[in-house]
Amino acid sequence: MKKRLEEIKIEARRAIKAVTDETRLSRVKAKFVGRKGQITALLKQMRDVPDDEKPAFGQMINEVKDVIEAWIEARSGELREEKKKRRLTEERIDITIPGRRTPLGGGHPVTLMMEEVVRVFMNMGFEVAEGPEVELDYYNFEALNIPKDHPARDMQDTFYISDEVVLRTHTSPVQIRVMEKRKPPVKIIAPGKVYRCDSDVSHTPMFHQVEGLLVDSGVSFGDLKGVLREFVSGVFGRGVGVRFRPSFFPFTEPSAEVDIECVFCKGGGCRICKQTGWLEILGCGMVDPAVFESVNYDSEQYCGFAFGLGIERVAMLKYGVGDIRLFFENDVRFLRQFRGRT
Ligand code: FA5
Ligand code: MG
Repeated sequence: MKKRLEEIKIEARRAIKAVTDETRLSRVKAKFVGRKGQITALLKQMRDVPDDEKPAFGQMINEVKDVIEAWIEARSGELREEKKKRRLTEERIDITIPGRRTPLGGGHPVTLMMEEVVRVFMNMGFEVAEGPEVELDYYNFEALNIPKDHPARDMQDTFYISDEVVLRTHTSPVQIRVMEKRKPPVKIIAPGKVYRCDSDVSHTPMFHQVEGLLVDSGVSFGDLKGVLREFVSGVFGRGVGVRFRPSFFPFTEPSAEVDIECVFCKGGGCRICKQTGWLEILGCGMVDPAVFESVNYDSEQYCGFAFGLGIERVAMLKYGVGDIRLFFENDVRFLRQFRGRT
């Protein structure tokens, strides 16, 4: 047994020296001093040793075990040092390799367009106001001179929460909410989401409007035209064709709609402009005295204009998007094209 112990010691010494990495070293460790290792096996053989020789043998085995463990410990330290040296001398970090870019999102085209439109009006001195999307029938229709049986309701069919509560069909109810709280002069815009039972290349059931309202004494239709022309040139530049077309809204008189020359067919007529050569972007007019009455403004003293424009329509024309529904499909190939715009 003593001879065997010597053999193990020599063998272990050689194996430990020969090892060149930590994984192999731990394998060597297991082979000699592990639970199933050779030293443990020897300890088990102690059963056959006569009782009076047991302590001496036990001590011998444990001494060898300690020696082997110390060698392993030392070799492990050496290996760690070697590895560190290798890394310091061999490994070179190439600081010229470009870093991995974290893909950044970008603004949604409708958001970008909305921000731009709001900016243009703020530059003209309009203040931003807001109102709820879930709106009382009273503000969405009634106070805007659209009684329950009025045919104008057909053009703005919507989602009813109850008989008296609707998803607003336009941002015009914000006009009423603002005028109820303030005295003239009033000069606000109201951006936000609106809802209708609509769906085709230029209509979606949810879309965005920006309402405008200016009330003061001595406001003329010329002022309205001036503000809207300034808006169009602010967004599209000076060269684009604009027309005011007589129209009807129960809450303005006279009323008009503003069209912009269709960028897709250059006015020639196509599917997107329904062969007219123009795409409607907004409705407007001089505030009807009946509206002033519902908010207790003196219609002899004050007058004003209002408008409501469709953000997606403006975005379609500005960005050349031929189908309004693309804005809401969330296809990244579409959305990516607007990255970096502000
Ligand atoms: C109105 O909503 C009126 N409240 C506008 C107004 C305000 C008139 C103040 C007078 C005074 P109209 O239904 O035409 O009007 O809609 C206004 C604009 O919203 C349209 O010109 C169009 O640009 C946009 N629009 C209307 N319906 C949709 C739809 N389903 N999808 C996308 N845009 C739409
Ligand atoms: Mg219209």
